[in-house]
Amino acid sequence: MKKIKDGLINEIRDRFAHVDTCPEQGKRIFFENAGGALTLKSVVERSAELAAIPDNQGRDNPASHELVSIINQAKSDILTFFGASNGSTFVGESGTELLFRLISTAILGAPDGGIVVGSTLEHPASVSACDRWAKIAKREFVRVPHNDETGTVTADDYKAYVTKDTSIATIVHTSPVTGMSVDVASIAKLIRSIAPDCYIIVDGIQHAAHGGLDLDSYGIDGYVISPYKVFSRHGYGVAWVSDRMSILPHDRLIGSPENNWELGTRDTASYATFTEVVNYFDWLGGHFTDSTDRREKINAASKAIHQQEKELTDAMLFGVNGQSGLASMSEVGIIGGVDNPQREGLVAITIEGMTAEQIVSALSEKGIRTHARKADHYSGNILKPLGLDSCVRVSMCHYNTEQEVTDFLGAVEGIINN
Ligand SMILES: Cc1ncc(COP(=O)(O)O)c(C=O)c1O
Repeated sequence: MKKIKDGLINEIRDRFAHVDTCPEQGKRIFFENAGGALTLKSVVERSAELAAIPDNQGRDNPASHELVSIINQAKSDILTFFGASNGSTFVGESGTELLFRLISTAILGAPDGGIVVGSTLEHPASVSACDRWAKIAKREFVRVPHNDETGTVTADDYKAYVTKDTSIATIVHTSPVTGMSVDVASIAKLIRSIAPDCYIIVDGIQHAAHGGLDLDSYGIDGYVISPYKVFSRHGYGVAWVSDRMSILPHDRLIGSPENNWELGTRDTASYATFTEVVNYFDWLGGHFTDSTDRREKINAASKAIHQQEKELTDAMLFGVNGQSGLASMSEVGIIGGVDNPQREGLVAITIEGMTAEQIVSALSEKGIRTHARKADHYSGNILKPLGLDSCVRVSMCHYNTEQEVTDFLGAVEGIINN
């Protein structure tokens, strides 16, 4: 199979802003993609272009018609990117805000008496929404314990907690702390085999940049992503809802279509920038398939991304370019284990005798950007059961290189030996 690293990597890197230089720090390696991926240059340009347009949507003038057409194109692009042949899609304030909206709507709208089920792997965005709205709707909220060793959760784990009364369930597609993905389709299938009408909402925020979204095959009712984590910019989130979920009672203007989830004037630039993300996947995929079909090109891009990220994480774990890997450094602990097929571009580590903040700061001095996760309300669910106060999250994307991994490994060795 053709690979990203064979000749294409420079062209890819050229499409992103600040790929190896921070405007504040200067030259740096960017391994903080789970905090926000690099932004496509085309997103920056399109965003600025549309910010300058004074017109509003829904008027009979050429500019207004163009804005509506941009939004409609983006909605179609989002469905193609998600692999969703039905349902509706819309933007909101952020991934968190959209998870709150979808989860609260499902909890208030599902038939009386049912319970809410989520897992301990989930981000506080879904957990907080479930906790708050379950109380308001007087429903029980049950949390499936995830597997500490593998850093993920499976249908088997859900099995013991799902009953015929499970009316609302949440699933996280990939953990932003362990970096491990979850088999959403198999969990949704398990839930539906016991509670066929359950509303299933999925947090795809950490997963989206790693590609391979296929909503048609999941059997779910809601999916949410944060575009700044998939090569667009901050300031909006994107949600998809199934046809039946779209008409559950929800916040909307009286008299607007029953399945309308948009509140107020839409930011055309949000939509337009997501089209740029889909254009990027389309462009990338075109290097790996002869097909002219947009969805097939997106799928081909996703496979190439997965391959590149697997090679990068393998290089980080097992060594590369004569540099030994993290797995052979006895001082380094690796969350979720070394051989984990669920890993998506991310390695979360500890170094004996050092706090995560110390490690992140030592790496920063060597021009490498990573992030410390603490056992707080964001990551305590993962770290506390492992007896850890903190860990360092090293998160990569397909535009990172083996040379960057080599430099990182050299830096870690230097820090340990210091
Ligand atoms: C899995 C997951 N869910 C939710 C969020 C919150 O997303 P946002 O801050 O974009 O609302 C994040 C952020 O990193 C995340 O990784």
